[in-house]
Amino acid sequence: MRGGHDVIVFCGRPEALAAPGRRDAALAVLATDDRDHVARFRFERDREQALASRALQRRALSACTDVAPAAWRFVAGAHGRPEIGAPPITPPLRFNVANSHGLVACAVTIDRDVGVDVEPWRGDAPAELIERCFAPAERAALTALPAGSRPRRFVELWTLKEAYIKARGLGLELPLELIDFTLDDGPPRLALDPSLDDDAATWQLELWSPLPSHAAALCVRRGAAPPLTIERRWDPG
Ligand SMILES: CC(C)(COP(=O)(O)OP(=O)(O)OC[C@H]1O[C@@H](n2cnc3c(N)ncnc32)[C@H](O)[C@@H]1OP(=O)(O)O)[C@@H](O)C(=O)NCCC(=O)NCCS
Repeated sequence: MRGGHDVIVFCGRPEALAAPGRRDAALAVLATDDRDHVARFRFERDREQALASRALQRRALSACTDVAPAAWRFVAGAHGRPEIGAPPITPPLRFNVANSHGLVACAVTIDRDVGVDVEPWRGDAPAELIERCFAPAERAALTALPAGSRPRRFVELWTLKEAYIKARGLGLELPLELIDFTLDDGPPRLALDPSLDDDAATWQLELWSPLPSHAAALCVRRGAAPPLTIERRWDPG
């Protein structure tokens, strides 16, 4: 992969990527189905986010290869996860995209499971979601925090869980409460219920804040390899 790193996470702000002066350039790299996807959204803000994220996805893959952004074709897997359909790249390039108002991201790597998620910070820690989607140890860790620290920890755990289910590519078939993240001073740690049939030790995990307004998480399958090198870049467009 061009750049020499094992994983590159590209981030961009939709307001910048789809700003009036850059909008035509973003549209020019999209395929017809991307444009149809963008046009489906009712609100301008959502169309801007979709345009930014589809353009970022193509430019990110092109920044790692010699392929032009408009040349990529994608196919969806059984659970809707997009993969590269053409042109053929050997060894295969894998990627994952995350959308939110204010921030979009695309993680690119070679032949590894990878998932990325971005979420805005919020002011509450919703009890219903914690009850339904968090592991007992995550709930206990949240309860042990001062009330003022819980919303931030909620978003951190949520973002990590989403990045993990996206890396697995199975969507919500994976019960979120069986995925258990621990956050303390070091990198996030993961424990998985045996029914998930996955070895938690094979994942490399990152949690960071690309903008003061957002959290981002990356889950990439390291396997038995030494720690992977991860580069974070802003919009390659
Ligand atoms: C993909 C998924 C796992 C996450 O989607 P999301 O958080 O809504 O949206 P994100 O922006 O993070 O990711 C969307 C992108 O992931 C990719 N994607 C789609 N299906 C995917 C899958 N099965 N696995 C991994 N990535 C997938 C696509 O690139 C998609 O981009 P697009 O919308 O521009 O086509 C989705 O299947 C989902 O089910 N989300 C719901 C989460 C939820 O409600 N959790 C509450 C449980 S209590």
